[in-house]
Amino acid sequence: AIIFAHNIAASPILTHILPMKTDAAPKPTRLEDYTPFNFDLSESRFDFRLDPRQTTVRSLLSLTRTAPGPLVLDGENIDLVSVEIDGRLLKRTAYRVTQTQLILDDVPDQFALNITTRCDPSANTTLMGLYVSGGRFCTQCEAEGFRRITYYPDRPDVMSEFTVLIDADKAAYPTLLANGNMIEAGDIDGGRHYAIWHDPFPKPCYLFALVAGEFDRLDDSFITMNGRTIPLEIYVDPGDAPKAAYAMDSLKRSMAWDERAFGREYDLDRFMIVAVRDFNFGAMENKGLNIFNSSLLLADAQTATDLNFERIESVVAHEYFHNWTGNRITCRDWFQLCLKEGFTVFRDQEFSADQRGAAVQRIKDVRALRARQFAEDNGPLAHPVRPTEYLKIDNFYTATIYEKGAELIRMLKTWLGDATFRKGCDIYFDRLDGTAATVEQFIACFEAASGEDMHPFMQWYHQAGTPRLTVERHQTPTSPVISQVVSFSQMTPPTPGQADKAPLMIPIRWQAIGDDGPLMDPQLTVMTTDTQTVSYPRFDVPHSLSIMQGFSAPAILRSDATTEDLIRLMGQDPDAFNRWEAGQTLARRLLVDCARALESGTMPEPDPALGAFFGALGKTLRDDSFDDAFKALVLTQPTGMEVLMAAAPIDPIAVSEAGDWLARAVADGLRNDLLQTYAAMKDSGPFSPDAASAGRRALKGRCLSLLAARFDPLAASLAAQQLDDATNMTDEIGALITLSRLGGQRVESSMESFFEKWKDQPLVLDKYYSVQAMRHHADGIHAIIRLAETPTYERSNPNRVRALVGGFAMGNVRLFHRLDGSGYRFFADQVLDMDGRNPSVAARLLGAFEIWRKLDAKRQQLIRDQLDRIIATRPSKNVLEIAQRMRGA
Ligand code: PHE
Ligand code: ZN
Repeated sequence: AIIFAHNIAASPILTHILPMKTDAAPKPTRLEDYTPFNFDLSESRFDFRLDPRQTTVRSLLSLTRTAPGPLVLDGENIDLVSVEIDGRLLKRTAYRVTQTQLILDDVPDQFALNITTRCDPSANTTLMGLYVSGGRFCTQCEAEGFRRITYYPDRPDVMSEFTVLIDADKAAYPTLLANGNMIEAGDIDGGRHYAIWHDPFPKPCYLFALVAGEFDRLDDSFITMNGRTIPLEIYVDPGDAPKAAYAMDSLKRSMAWDERAFGREYDLDRFMIVAVRDFNFGAMENKGLNIFNSSLLLADAQTATDLNFERIESVVAHEYFHNWTGNRITCRDWFQLCLKEGFTVFRDQEFSADQRGAAVQRIKDVRALRARQFAEDNGPLAHPVRPTEYLKIDNFYTATIYEKGAELIRMLKTWLGDATFRKGCDIYFDRLDGTAATVEQFIACFEAASGEDMHPFMQWYHQAGTPRLTVERHQTPTSPVISQVVSFSQMTPPTPGQADKAPLMIPIRWQAIGDDGPLMDPQLTVMTTDTQTVSYPRFDVPHSLSIMQGFSAPAILRSDATTEDLIRLMGQDPDAFNRWEAGQTLARRLLVDCARALESGTMPEPDPALGAFFGALGKTLRDDSFDDAFKALVLTQPTGMEVLMAAAPIDPIAVSEAGDWLARAVADGLRNDLLQTYAAMKDSGPFSPDAASAGRRALKGRCLSLLAARFDPLAASLAAQQLDDATNMTDEIGALITLSRLGGQRVESSMESFFEKWKDQPLVLDKYYSVQAMRHHADGIHAIIRLAETPTYERSNPNRVRALVGGFAMGNVRLFHRLDGSGYRFFADQVLDMDGRNPSVAARLLGAFEIWRKLDAKRQQLIRDQLDRIIATRPSKNVLEIAQRMRGA
C-alpha cells in the first residue's frame, strides 16, 4: 500500500511571501518563449487530508534532471508547510517562495521531493483548484488550477503517473474519487476513511480530479470493441439519479460511436462522471473522472427542455471524446488549445449529426458559429485559432478556439476527402499517443496521409478574422459551346494587431441548380489565391448557383444571387444546408433594410420580395419530405447578432424591431399554415427526448412564437392553454416566454406560479431568472435590480449569475441598450461584483460588451465609459485583459 504518513500536524506554516512588484503591467505569456521543462517527472504521489477549512496536501515527486537550471514550481494561494529532498527537511534558506512560485536553486540530478501545503477549500470562490460545492469537495484544474492545490510544474507538457490518497471524514464524505482505478480503501481512526487511486496513464496535472462527498450513483456498463466490460458511474446529488439517465444513455452511444467512427476504444477499467452545481464552464474531461456542471448533465421531461437534452448529449460526448483527443494526446502548451478543443468539437458535432440528422445539426452549428464566433472574429477580441500571446489563458476558451477550430478540421476533411481524413487521424493517434503535441505535428499527419503540401492551410491557424468571399457570375455570349464563368474573390478585414491579411485556402463546394433540381454534380473548388475563376457548362434553362454547400468554409459569403435565385434555391437545392441558407440570406437582406429604415425613422416599404418568400416558406412547411426540426429552422430568423453585424454601425433596438416586423409579416402571410401546423404538432404523445419528438416540439414552438409576433388574440389563448396543459419543460417555458412577450395580466401571475412550482429545483430556477432577465419590464432596470436582490438569487453561483446577468446582457435588447446608460452600468456593476469572487467567470460575462463598436455613436460612448470605469478599478488580470483588449490600445 502507498500510504503517506501525516507527519506534519505540528510543523509551523513556513510561508514567507516575497513582496510582489505591484505596479508593473502584467506580462503576457508568448508562444515564441516556449522552453521544455528541465526535469522529468515520472511519478507523482499526493496525499490529501481533506478538511473544508484546512486541507493538507503532501506530495512526493520523482524528479530527474534533463537540462540545467533551478527547479521552479508553480503555486498560488496556498500555504507552504515544508519541503524535503530524499527525506531530509530543507532549511528555509534552501528555497525561495514568491506569490506564484517555489524555487529550489540547488537540487541533485535525481531525487525525491516532498512538499507539504495547506489550503482553504471553503474560502475558494474562484472555483479553480480544490473547492467546496454544496458541501462536497471537487476540483477544477484546467487550465492553471492545479497550482492552487500544491506546488507543481503546472504545464500541460509535464506528464506523470499519478497515485492519489484521499483521507476524509467518513460520515460527511462517504464517496472518495480520483482519476484511474481504485487500488485500496479502508477505515482509519477518528471516524475517517481513505481511498487510494492510481492512474496508469501519464497525464498533465490539468487532468487531475478529486471528488469527495455524499452522492447518489447511477450505474451501467459498456462492452468495448475488444470485449472489455467497463463499469460506468454517474455521481449526483442525493435524489437526482433518475435525472442522469439521459446522460448515461448519451455516454454509451458516444463510446460506441468513437469506436465506429474513429476506431477509438476506452482505456481505463472504469469511467466516472460527477455533477456539481458550482462550476465555471460546462464540463471537464479529467481522466476517467469527468466533472460536469449539473446543468449539462441532469435532465428529465418536467425540468429540462429539448435544448438541454441536446446539449447534454453533445457535451457528454465531447468530454468522453477528449479521452483520446486531449488526454491520450494532450497539448504541448496552452497555445495549442485548439488541438484538443477544435478537434473534439468537430468530433462531437459529427456525433450529433449521426444521432440527430446531419442537415439540422449543421444548420444549428453554423447559426451558433455566426452568432458567437463571427461576432468575436469581427470585433476587438478577435484572435487567431492559435494565439501567440495571452495574459490569462482562461480568457482563451473562446468560440474561435472551439468553434472556428472545429471548422478548420471540417475543412481538412472536405478538402482531403473522408478516407484520407480518417487515415490522417489514424496516423495522429498512432504517432502521437502519450505525447504533448503541437498543431504542426497534427497537420503533419494529414500531410503524411495525403501527400499534399499543408503549408497554405496553416494560415487558418495564424490569421484572425473572417474572410469575405465574393461570388460573381459573368454573362457570356449565348453560344452552346462557350461555357459560363463564376469568379470567387476573398478578402479578410484587419483585426487587432494584424493589419495585413494573406489569402486563405478556402474549399468551396458549389453546384448549378435549375427549376427541376441540380444541373450538374457538386464541384469542389479549393481556392488558394485572392481571386479565382471557374467555368462550367452552359445550360439552356434558367439556373442559380448554390455556393458553399454545407457551409464548406467559415467565411461570409457576398453573393450576387437575386431574389429569384434565392427562391429557386429554397425550393430546389439538394444541399439541405444551402436550401435553408437561401431563406436566411433573403431574410437577412430584408432585416438589414428594415433595421436601417427604422433607425432613420421611416417605416419599411412593403417589399415586393415578401410574397415569393412566404410562398417558398409555406411550401416547405407543407412538404412532408422535410423533417419537423428542419422546418422549424426554416421558420427561424437569422440571429440579431448577424443582422447587427451586417448593418453596423446601427441602433440595436432598430435591429430587434426589424426582427419583430419580419416575424409579424411572416405570421400575417402564413397565418393558416402556422395555425394548422401548430394544431398538427400539438398532441405529441408521451414525452421522449429523441430528435424526431424534439423536432415536433420545436416546430410547434416556432409556430406559436410567430403567431404571437402578430399579437394574434388566438396566440395568447393558445399560449395560456399550452402553459396549463404542459407536461414537459419545452412546452412550459415556450408558453411562458410567449406570454411574457405578449404582456398583459396573465404574465405576472404565470411568472409567480412558475417560481412557486420550481423554486426547489435550482436548474429550473435558473430558467426563471433568465426569462425574467429578458422581459421588457415597465420599470426598466429597477426590475432587474430587484431580481438580483431576491433571496434565491445566488451571486456566487455562476449558473445563476449567467442566467440573470448574462440573460439580461445578451437577451434583453431594449433594457440593456437603454440610452440612459442604466443597462450598461448595471451590467458593469455585476461584472465587478463577480470579479471580486471569480475573475474567470467575470471576464467571460464582460464579453457581452464585445459588440460595442457595431453600435451607434451614443451607445459606443456609453460602453466606452463603462470599460474605462472597469479598468480604473484595477480589476483582476482576467477582467483587465478583456477590458483592455475591448477598449483597444
Ligand atoms: N476542457 C473543457 C472542455 O472543453 C473546458 C473547460 C476549460 C472546463 C477550463 C473547465 C475549465 O471540454
Ligand atoms: Zn473540450
